[in-house]
Amino acid sequence: MFQRIFVMCCTLAASFFLFAGQATAADIAAGSQVFSQNCAACHINGGNLVNGAKTLKKADLEKYDMYSAEKIIAQVTNGKMAMPAFTGRLTATQIENVAAYVLDQADKW
Ligand code: HEC
Repeated sequence: MFQRIFVMCCTLAASFFLFAGQATAADIAAGSQVFSQNCAACHINGGNLVNGAKTLKKADLEKYDMYSAEKIIAQVTNGKMAMPAFTGRLTATQIENVAAYVLDQADKW
């Protein structure tokens, strides 16, 4: 009896972790698509064709206090200077995903 319950709990726990792992990977993968369709025009390879100082590389993100999902989500949502706002064009989930992708890529570009 106890053995069966134990096995059931392990299965549940394992599927939970598997699912959580997949969710994170899917978000970044989905964010990558959002990025190539909406951001790459100005930020190809993590650069910045409009304002060359403000790339998406970790060093620049840190320099301009942008190295956090919250800050990136706010800027994509509201826009800033020459960067357009994406409210209405992207859903909140798409914006979260693209922010996760930018952070994941920041030290890989
Ligand atoms: C039309 C060109 C353009 C598009 C499209 C664009 N950006 Fe930007 N982006 C800019 C400009 C210009 C800046 C610098 C803004 C400023 O003056 O602070 C910037 C800055 C940023 C920064 C801060 C960089 C830093 O080092 O401070 C992030 C993060 C960012 N963009 C993410 C995105 C994401 C994600 C998308 C797609 C959803 C996107 N951008 C689409 C032009 C663009």
